[in-house]
Amino acid sequence: MSRVAVVTGGSRGIGEGISLALQQMGMTVAANYAGNDARAKEFTDRTGIPAYKFDVGDHDAVIAGCARIAEDLGPIDVVVNNAGITRDGVLHKMTWEDWNEVMRINLGGCFNMAKATFPGMRERGWGRIVNIGSVNGQAGQYGQVNYAAAKSGIHGFTKALAQEGAKYGVTVNAIAPGYIDTDMVAAVPEPVLEKIIQKIPVGRLGHADEIARGVAFFASEEATFVTGSTLSINGGQHMY
Ligand code: CAA
Repeated sequence: MSRVAVVTGGSRGIGEGISLALQQMGMTVAANYAGNDARAKEFTDRTGIPAYKFDVGDHDAVIAGCARIAEDLGPIDVVVNNAGITRDGVLHKMTWEDWNEVMRINLGGCFNMAKATFPGMRERGWGRIVNIGSVNGQAGQYGQVNYAAAKSGIHGFTKALAQEGAKYGVTVNAIAPGYIDTDMVAAVPEPVLEKIIQKIPVGRLGHADEIARGVAFFASEEATFVTGSTLSINGGQHMY
């Protein structure tokens, strides 16, 4: 029986690359998405990967969504917490809603997905949770107190849950991507992005499949002794 994997925000951007990489490894993949029905349908038609619509920041919706996936595909063995949003702005202009939405979705989403799936992994004695953090959670970023705090929180969440899962065969690791050529990064104003790229030693944005390869390693059968670890994939932008 193949492993069942859920990738949040799995129908586009970095998540799409991760869904495809796990499918190539022989896993049965479910891609979660929040809003873009047309894009999710196009993704499912093209890849054969079913898409499940729920808001990862909504606790009850996550419990129900994961139950639906398990009923359709089998118990969930692998979770990739990739879904995330930005609401960039300097602190003195940032609203409480900008802060709260980013915390609710980016960090709360990891908690909700773990609540829905970690107990089952623990009982079955095998599981993989891979959380997508960010270089901006490691180094900070002007205009991102909300996003940097949430992503930094993901790195702490990873290390804490790794300790709880270790003796039950459940590993919990994180990837810290740098700037990747997705819609999210395309939304950064051109002159700001130019300056950021100048600071990346590799000299370009990364690609989704370059992140997906790291996730595939953490999710693999072989990665039994790696837990609580963060892999930075950022073109050398921040060597941490
Ligand atoms: N360091 C120091 N000062 C900076 C700065 C920086 N990095 N960036 C901008 N400033 C300064 C500007 O020079 C300007 O100064 P003056 O007023 O003296 O001219 C001042 O800050 C205001 O800058 P803006 O005009 O840009 O301010 P704004 O309010 O219009 O926009 C912003 C602020 C929304 C934060 C905008 O700068 C921005 O979008 N920055 C990019 C943030 C970013 O990198 N987001 C990443 C998104 S992708 C992602 O998050 C994925 C991932 O995980 C990597």
